[in-house]
Amino acid sequence: MPKEVVLSGIRPTGFLHLGNYFGAVKNWVRMQHDYNCYFCVVDWHSLTTHPDTKELRNNVHRLFGELLASGLDPEQSVIYVQSDVPEIAELYLYLNMLAYQGELEKTSTFKDKVRQHPQNVNAGLLTYPVLQAADILIHRAVKVPVGKDQEQHVEMTRNLAERFNRRYEAVFSMPFAFNYGESLTKILGLDGKGKMSKSENPMSTIYLNDDDDLIRKKIMKAKTDSGPTEKGMPKPDYIENLFTLMQLVSRYDVVAAFESEYEACSIRYGDMKKQLAEDMISFITPIREKAEAIQNDKAYLTKVIKTGEQKARESAAETLKLVRKAMGLNYV
Ligand code: TYM
Repeated sequence: MPKEVVLSGIRPTGFLHLGNYFGAVKNWVRMQHDYNCYFCVVDWHSLTTHPDTKELRNNVHRLFGELLASGLDPEQSVIYVQSDVPEIAELYLYLNMLAYQGELEKTSTFKDKVRQHPQNVNAGLLTYPVLQAADILIHRAVKVPVGKDQEQHVEMTRNLAERFNRRYEAVFSMPFAFNYGESLTKILGLDGKGKMSKSENPMSTIYLNDDDDLIRKKIMKAKTDSGPTEKGMPKPDYIENLFTLMQLVSRYDVVAAFESEYEACSIRYGDMKKQLAEDMISFITPIREKAEAIQNDKAYLTKVIKTGEQKARESAAETLKLVRKAMGLNYV
């Protein structure tokens, strides 16, 4: 049986943070053994918010360093840059004919961006989910390991795939958002306000390149309160998030001890945060050091990027052949 195809992507903006790692990359690393995996650094998507493009090269290299240091293996997965695969742009063009203005304007990520950057509501931003659909469908992927915030985009991808199949021929299988756990992950910022993200307050985001002191400082500043006063009190979401982070990096018995203290209303959040900071440091330090080494090894990076490009284009070209045939775009 051929292995199922997996695709996911990440924007080369800012450093990789815990939300990216635990929402997506950790699953990617695990999936590479069981699936036919494609992982894409989506530089075209990042252009929608008009970054300084002089920084792109460095950002892309750094992200490759961080992904490889996190455990992605270029021998097992295809890891590539979006703009190296022009076939994606062609599929994006075809899918744009099947995407309606109304549904694009209703997308939550579009509405967020309009609120954040009212002076830059460009067509690329509006059709961002169509480009994402092209990323996924160009390899006819069926599993898309992403965090909770990307669920709507994967749903739109299914709608577009279904429309294509109905209008032309059944080229695409339906892709679904995937997580090994029960549900998709959402890591909150340490200030308890909204998801941890590259563009929010850097003090409430833990990056995989933060040094030990900075990690301690950020975690000790995380929002807490005076603690539960009655047994069975539900945890406020910023406290739940500290427990979530602890479950991700601390030993089972350590988490269980703090859980019982919470239940007994005797928890001291200061102690919990100290423990979390030390466990976080033990988790992050090896990744940070490895990422720095890889990022400086330009010959290796070039090899990985070139190999990824070649393999991604082979798969993409096969899909485009089917797409063009289904659409009747063959004249000789
Ligand atoms: P991006 O670059 O914002 O994030 C990359 C991945 O990290 C996840 N993530 C989170 N998960 C949990 N908690 C958080 N706080 C958190 N913050 C980020 C995201 O869900 C994502 O999985 N549009 C995508 C990039 C993309 C893509 C694709 C993804 C382009 N094409 C095709 C999948 C398939 C984005 O902006 O991700």
